[in-house]
Amino acid sequence: MSDHDLVVRGGTIVTASDTMRADIGVRGGRIVAIAESLPASGRSIEAEGLLVMPGGVDTHCHIEQLEANGTVHEDSFATASASAFAGGTTSAICFASQFKGHPIGPTLDEYRRRARSAMLDYSFHQIVTDPTDAVLKELPGIVASGIRSFKIFMTYDPLHVDDREVLRVLAAAKRLGAFVTVHCENYAAIGFMTEALIAAGHTAPKYHAWSRPAVVEREATYRAIALAELIDTPIQVFHVSSAEVAEEIARAKARGLKVWGETCPQYLALTDGHMDWPGFEGAKFMCSPAPREAAEHERMWGMIRRGVLDVISSDHCGFSYEGSKGKGQNGRDVPFRDIPNGIPGLAARLPIVFSEGVSKGRITPNEFVALTATNPANLFGLSGKGRIAIGADADLVVWDPKKQVTLTNALMQHAIDYTPYEGIEVTGWPVATIRRGEVVMQGGTVQAEPGSGRFLARGPYPLTAPRGVVANGFDPAG
Ligand code: URP
Ligand code: ZN
Ligand code: ZN
Repeated sequence: MSDHDLVVRGGTIVTASDTMRADIGVRGGRIVAIAESLPASGRSIEAEGLLVMPGGVDTHCHIEQLEANGTVHEDSFATASASAFAGGTTSAICFASQFKGHPIGPTLDEYRRRARSAMLDYSFHQIVTDPTDAVLKELPGIVASGIRSFKIFMTYDPLHVDDREVLRVLAAAKRLGAFVTVHCENYAAIGFMTEALIAAGHTAPKYHAWSRPAVVEREATYRAIALAELIDTPIQVFHVSSAEVAEEIARAKARGLKVWGETCPQYLALTDGHMDWPGFEGAKFMCSPAPREAAEHERMWGMIRRGVLDVISSDHCGFSYEGSKGKGQNGRDVPFRDIPNGIPGLAARLPIVFSEGVSKGRITPNEFVALTATNPANLFGLSGKGRIAIGADADLVVWDPKKQVTLTNALMQHAIDYTPYEGIEVTGWPVATIRRGEVVMQGGTVQAEPGSGRFLARGPYPLTAPRGVVANGFDPAG
């Protein structure tokens, strides 16, 4: 009998803390040996001259998400998995969204049913849009089932929660040992700005960015942090777009609050200028928060290096450019307000972050691994993911750090008809992706069985613990 099902041979292993030349032996889907030289047994992947890193962990992906208007995001669990593998990502946390006025349970069942076609390992963030007493009573069961994080939106009409509702969700999370992620933008300010822009005849896609400048995000970020401090429960601020927003997180961290920050490739590689492409083309880049000016990219890398931003996720949220479910679902002559937000990025995430970060000398390969795999796994309690260690899941990406590639939509292998990163030149590219010891992508060819992805049930973990500091010694969460 072979000692190993798979040996990844001769590569340079990069973890969040170390770099070493070693072989990796895999058995039963786990890493069982890391040694200078392992004997030949089972299948071999030759990684001489290549980096071997933990498979990407993308903790912010909208996959097959159901919208209140009855539409479903175009990427299914199967197509999103293919896209993830093409880009070196092996696990993801996506979203199960509550519809206002409805219980969570039946909708969550539908997400679980749809996720049965996944090939990547996955978990869910439960989006809570309507934290009534009845809905709060559902949350213990949801957490017990392994969904240990919630997302709340401080803006967007069908999803928005007001401050009191934010507090109700934060308090429930504290009681349950769950972690809350927050979309921080000021709902009323965006509504006001949108009305004023449209009244002035400013309706084109580029005005999406004008309707929600950084101050709108900064204010909500400050408020979310203050509300989390009041309840004394940790949060992650999602998709930070600019340094002035990250500065709020820096201040919170300096004060010892348990606040983490996430950014995304769109805030490191796209700008508000993209939304000014002619005609309807600007819609391809519309997401919230909006990409900012080009000079912001360097400031954001500064925040990443300072450790203010801990995670780089994709916020993959695909709407095709063409078609009835796509960006033009309400027509192409509608104001920016009626164009769906979100851009696809599952496959592009690692290549863009590696190229802009490591290849351009802004971060080290170890920092790359921390930002794209280890930190997200640790923050969300994905034990066994995001690291290369004996006993960890054998989720690996074999990476050519020198390979130059021009990004095209075909390379993304998703169900969306465009990529906002079309034409961007990257240095660094995944040559093989291994999920629990199975080679699921090699040389760009994805091969995995639909349904082979596993649901990652997340149990209690220490990061969600409160600090034990509440005003006047009174814990409002009970
Ligand atoms: O524009 C975006 N980011 N769409 C996805 C939903 C969200 O806010 O994360
Ligand atoms: Zn969001
Ligand atoms: Zn999102």
